Amino acid sequence: MDPIAPCLGAEIGNIDLRMPLDDDQYLALRAALLKHKVLFFRDQDISAAQQVALASRFGELEVHPVFPHHPDHRELVVLGGDSAQAARENIFHTDVSWRKLPSMGSILRCLECPAVGGDTLWVNMVAVHAGLPAAVRDRIAGLHAVHDILPAFGSRMNAEQREARRQEFPAATHPVVRIHPETGEKILYVNEAFTTHLADYLEKHEGQYRFGFDFRLEEMDLLQYLFRQANAPEYQVRLRWRHNTIAFWDNRSTQHYAIQDYFPARRRMLRATIIGDAPF
Ligand code: SIN
Repeated sequence: MDPIAPCLGAEIGNIDLRMPLDDDQYLALRAALLKHKVLFFRDQDISAAQQVALASRFGELEVHPVFPHHPDHRELVVLGGDSAQAARENIFHTDVSWRKLPSMGSILRCLECPAVGGDTLWVNMVAVHAGLPAAVRDRIAGLHAVHDILPAFGSRMNAEQREARRQEFPAATHPVVRIHPETGEKILYVNEAFTTHLADYLEKHEGQYRFGFDFRLEEMDLLQYLFRQANAPEYQVRLRWRHNTIAFWDNRSTQHYAIQDYFPARRRMLRATIIGDAPF
């Protein structure tokens, strides 16, 4: 195991992910994921079915309601862009935080990538929370935020589809600071792509505002400040992809950003997403 950056990320060698994981390998990978938050594997020439089997070892897989799927495996989404169609993953986010049960982790395999460009960044959101000034940590303790599928994905839908998605995925409310269900770590759990506003800012600050929506400006400032924390390189690791590189991240304690600097080259990725539990 080879740590890649001080804050998160490790490369794992000497493992063939085409083969089913035995119990020791499974436990070692799970422990490594908790410790390093994102794991990288090089030269893994695995099939789509093997990727599904690998991810399924860690939990049930979700079917994404918007992204295109692999033709034979609905649990695999096809991601990436080219000069004909831009991708949308170039914003810091945790996958599917708009679900009531956001994902525990994702396993992303590179099918095709440019010789240079199309790197991905991950951010350690435990370190981000720990690095906040104490006054900000106090200010956000006990608050909840609303996460919504529609602002990010709604522009790809017509009005009828938007209404159907709204019925299927009402906006979800999660703690601004969630506790990691396996490690007990505190995680700053808001992201620029899906978090729309704070649900209970006014209640917590009752009596401090004159009337009406006076509080909104401060609330939005606070949220923007929290979003910006993911930009600090000190909290990040950056992966340069190669064909058959795999990344496996803990989606509870990280955010990620796929850099879109590679056109006219193509970038194609396959992602399996493991269902997690309700943030608390
Ligand atoms: C994602 O946002 O889940 C995909 C990241 C990537 O394509 O590098």
